[in-house]
Amino acid sequence: MRIGVIGGGQLGQMLGFAGRELGFDCVFIDPSPTPPAAAAGDVIAAAFDDRAAILALARDTDVLTYEFENVPVRALESAAAEGPVYPPLGALSSAQDRLAEKELFESLDIPLPGWHQVDSRADLQAAAEKLGLPIVLKTRRLGYDGKGQVVIKDTDEIDAAWQALGDSDLIAEAWVPFDFEVSQIATRGVDGHIEYFPLTHNQHAGGILRYSRAPVVSEPLESAARRAVARMLESLDYVGTLALELFVMDGGLLANEFAPRVHNSGHWTIEGAATSQFANHLLAVAGDRPRPAPARGHSGMLNLIGEIPDSARDVVDTHIVLHDYGKSPRAGRKLGHITVTADTPETRDAELIRIGKTVTGSTPRFETRE
Ligand SMILES: Nc1ncnc2c1ncn2[C@@H]1O[C@H](COP(=O)(O)OP(=O)(O)O)[C@@H](O)[C@H]1O
Ligand SMILES: [Mg+2]
Repeated sequence: MRIGVIGGGQLGQMLGFAGRELGFDCVFIDPSPTPPAAAAGDVIAAAFDDRAAILALARDTDVLTYEFENVPVRALESAAAEGPVYPPLGALSSAQDRLAEKELFESLDIPLPGWHQVDSRADLQAAAEKLGLPIVLKTRRLGYDGKGQVVIKDTDEIDAAWQALGDSDLIAEAWVPFDFEVSQIATRGVDGHIEYFPLTHNQHAGGILRYSRAPVVSEPLESAARRAVARMLESLDYVGTLALELFVMDGGLLANEFAPRVHNSGHWTIEGAATSQFANHLLAVAGDRPRPAPARGHSGMLNLIGEIPDSARDVVDTHIVLHDYGKSPRAGRKLGHITVTADTPETRDAELIRIGKTVTGSTPRFETRE
């Protein structure tokens, strides 16, 4: 089985490694000839909108998939006429536009924060009045790691926010004073069978994921998150792994966004679940059934952002694994991650706090215990 993957970043690399264990060959398209995924398979150097290269890859492989959500849908359309492309393009196009994404949540009765479409300065004013400050102004497309977002706390910040983002199509959201954030990752097979990953607790700073911990032990949250993700998977006729990001507030869930792909908050599943999000994605797109993925103990993950200091290599131990994506350092760039597995949530958190302090110099505070 040869699987063509659009995108050769760290998610592609981890897909490729999982593929090797399953006996699948992954072939990647990436503009860089030596992206992280080159460590895990062949790379065709081509742009993400190079329709001819994508079509050639479709002809040379059994199925196409992608590891980031900003692949132009049009570039995949002719490939989809040639053979299977999973996840389906409908899921990709909804995930590319925050407006379509919110309409999808609403059509499925998945609760979400208040929002307002912003196409003009007057719309932004109306959004502030309708939603009440603070609000978050976001570009509808191409945002990641908190980029393309401005928080407006006071009416005198509206002008600056408009000046910063007004050239793009926008959406405003009510600011959610959440208790904590979670993600629900699940994989659906071609036959409609769904496997759910344990609910994961995520902590961001500056819009970038810093720490994930799993499993979140809460039956009501877990069943609500599973219901929401199942509705999405079924309505999109989805095949592959999907991640739904949610805010937890007053014991309930509000949908933030989803990714039609494997997700940073599921990296811990490589060591910490019976099947990883990467393995299940590949099994599903290859036409096999995804496998059960219960947690093995309690896992925590720390992202390595901007640099991988020597201390990150020194903390490695039997239960502490370092993943170095082989990327060149740059401020704010995700270069690797560390996973810790433990027998109890208490030892996991103590270990993660120790590692976080050693590696980043600042002590993480997991103030909200689920
Ligand atoms: N409406 C909101 N209320 C509170 N926090 C938010 C809101 N929107 C985003 N955030 C914070 O910013 C992070 C990144 O925003 P998100 O919409 O997920 O964009 P990205 O595509 O960059 O991940 C979220 O995980 C959350 O911590
Ligand atoms: Mg997000």
